[in-house]
Amino acid sequence: MTIDWVEPYYDGIHLFHTGRWLLTLDPQAPEPLLIAAVTHDMERHFPGGTQPDKAAGAWADEEYNRRHCARSADIVGRWLREQDVPDDFVQAVEASILEHEFGGSPAGDVLQAADSISFLEVNGHLVSGWVLKGETSLPNAITKLDWMVERIKLAPARELAWPHYERALAAVRDEVAAHDA
Ligand SMILES: [Fe+2]
Ligand SMILES: [Fe+2]
Repeated sequence: MTIDWVEPYYDGIHLFHTGRWLLTLDPQAPEPLLIAAVTHDMERHFPGGTQPDKAAGAWADEEYNRRHCARSADIVGRWLREQDVPDDFVQAVEASILEHEFGGSPAGDVLQAADSISFLEVNGHLVSGWVLKGETSLPNAITKLDWMVERIKLAPARELAWPHYERALAAVRDEVAAHDA
């Protein structure tokens, strides 16, 4: 059911891979945390979604990230309640979604790490697209990749993220250079 809901989202693949990385980092992850992983950015699927100031490269902006997390938690929570999911389960999902950008609790830190690795693994094209569409500069696009790896608090997760960071960095540089050639 959740998969059908998430699939039409333009970045659904990133959500599914976040679920996969969550289970890689914590094979015993509780179910609400897994649901949070595969839905955490869903607010962008609905009109009025939040966006960072891409031109300024303000990826780590707290106010924007708080709004983004809160809107996703709200939309996902409402959707789960419509499926008659028990309230304590829904509250656990919402609490984890609220932590997916900055971490916080141990569960939030694992979700944040999974989000980062998944982003670096599958979203290089999305980031180079921002540069090619003129939404941000190449240096700012690279700071997005930097931030995604540097914010990870769990040392083993950071190790897992590095090769994906390096691949994403090379892909973004190559795609922008190919376009400029
Ligand atoms: Fe997010
Ligand atoms: Fe994400």
